[in-house]
Amino acid sequence: MPHPALESASFSPEAQALVHELLDNKQSHLFDDWDPPGECEPEKRAFLEQLLQVDANYPGGLANYLANARRLLTQSREGKNPFEGYRPEQPDAVDLSAMDESYDQMESLGRDHFDRVGIVLVAGGLGERLGHDGIKLDLPVEAILNTTYLAHYAKCLLAMEARMARARPVPFVIMVSEDTHAPTLRALEEHGYYGLRKDQVHILKQELVPALKDNDARLAKEGPYELILKPHGHGDVHMLLQSSGLAARLRAEGIEHLVFIQDTNGQVFNALPAALGVSIEREYDFNSLAVNRVPGEAVGGLARLVKDDHEMTLNIEYNQLDPLLRATLNPDGDVPGPKGFSVFPGNINILVIRLASYIKVLEQSKGIIAEFVNPKYADEARSEFKKPARLETMMQDLPKLLGPEHKVGVTVFHRAWCFSPNKNNVEEAANKHAAGSPPESAATAESDFYLAGRMKAGRAGMDLREEAPQTILGVPFVNGPRLILSPAFAMTLAEVREKISGGRVSGPSTLILDGPDIRLQDVCLEAGAALRVHAAAGAKVTLRGKLSGPPGFALEKLSPEELAAPDTPSALKMRGYRFVDEGVKTLRFESPGEYEVELDTLYTPLPENS
Ligand code: UTP
Repeated sequence: MPHPALESASFSPEAQALVHELLDNKQSHLFDDWDPPGECEPEKRAFLEQLLQVDANYPGGLANYLANARRLLTQSREGKNPFEGYRPEQPDAVDLSAMDESYDQMESLGRDHFDRVGIVLVAGGLGERLGHDGIKLDLPVEAILNTTYLAHYAKCLLAMEARMARARPVPFVIMVSEDTHAPTLRALEEHGYYGLRKDQVHILKQELVPALKDNDARLAKEGPYELILKPHGHGDVHMLLQSSGLAARLRAEGIEHLVFIQDTNGQVFNALPAALGVSIEREYDFNSLAVNRVPGEAVGGLARLVKDDHEMTLNIEYNQLDPLLRATLNPDGDVPGPKGFSVFPGNINILVIRLASYIKVLEQSKGIIAEFVNPKYADEARSEFKKPARLETMMQDLPKLLGPEHKVGVTVFHRAWCFSPNKNNVEEAANKHAAGSPPESAATAESDFYLAGRMKAGRAGMDLREEAPQTILGVPFVNGPRLILSPAFAMTLAEVREKISGGRVSGPSTLILDGPDIRLQDVCLEAGAALRVHAAAGAKVTLRGKLSGPPGFALEKLSPEELAAPDTPSALKMRGYRFVDEGVKTLRFESPGEYEVELDTLYTPLPENS
């Protein structure tokens, strides 16, 4: 006897076929609680529409999702250790954290490759830890110019293009989700794509997957006519690059590497040229950017796992790494090496992937990368879930699908230089700081952004005298010198050295350089002075001399009332401070030409008592 669900003539043939398929696949509970035929027909049709949608979104359809789910749920119930029999070893790593000559070589190699790289930004996350209403990409990286993450990334892409022998737009793939799609598009449209060409931006939207209510992979519902859907994780980016055909198209257009970046890491383009250089020089198919990691630190460790004739280099969550090490290498677990760091560098989820190898893996796997399931069981026998689970994937797990013909490596960078995201709200950031963990908040991301500017200028011989760190709402912040060197000004350390020679910037002074042809010769800023130089293409500007006032940007802490007020912008609340412009000196050079500026002559001191 046919299931009552099939008794209405008003369902499309596709819907009827899918119902049949689901009934054969142990999913009759989806329809058992339906109202009698003829009742609630619109709700039933909407429910079938939802099923058709999830069926279309997943490679191989719902049947494949359910098959994968049953396999993974069985493994999970049996408590199988995914690394059983593997011995962890130090990964093949290039350590560039000292930023010495080898750094420069890699940067130069990477820079020459800018015309063969695409950037993939995963930006579908909800940002629940940050508790910000809008998208994270719309948040300012710093609170002086208030450049948003999206604007900053776009500037970096344009700066890459400006450095190519034959300019071509850098493909910019942005993965969004239902939550971030509309606001991301709005931000792009409202800002004229931040100067990018519309056709260089490729938006891919990740979809939710159905939740599972038990070990039989029966789909979970909310009421009779609604599936429960949940995020599938940032590993979706691989599936979408495959199913959209974009990965193959980019390869056909001459792109050789894709660099995967996150939504709120303003430092990533500091390290990108050198990381690309390492991928090229070492012929890595998969290169993970990493930082030195203290044993026990709550960040995934990158390790080479070896078993018989099989090996793979991948990220192992820190809570899995220590027990694995105790069971194999060392009863003390993860111990410091000679420099005090673990031999397993910390993964920061910035990936450089060689497109030729990637495409083959995508074809074989349909882009479904190492899915896993993580049910919270309600009983010892692992027979019931506390709440519905779902399959998930993480983009860094791609090496699980690579074979012996692939080269997987790691490039280690100075931490603040390559990674300082804004992930946590200020309370959580203060707790993390108190516990000795990186706060990863708006204030620390901003502080590190200025630090990267100081690191660049410092390597060009500029003398930089830092303010002592202070804490604001329990989160550390170094209030200067604040150096904002735009991507147009420099994309590599070599360029900074070419453009800045000597000089000194001290205390809470601010130096903002934006333009491709600005040079500084022994420029000094002191007493909190702020100098902002903007030079259009073709304007060659040389600056010399000293600026010692008036004070530029003053840091003002928010009062408790402002912090509590609902209309205080969340970008300020998550920092606990703002900058007040008390007299930045702005120099604009909009027309091509050669300009020489003596900073000492910019201000005539006021007569006493005036
Ligand atoms: P996060 O670890 O920052 O997670 O993601 P999140 O979901 O954005 O934030 P919380 O955990 O809710 O606080 C790392 C990167 O992966 C993206 C995020 O946008 C971020 O760039 N991401 C995460 C996706 O693109 N899709 C996802 O399903 C999850």
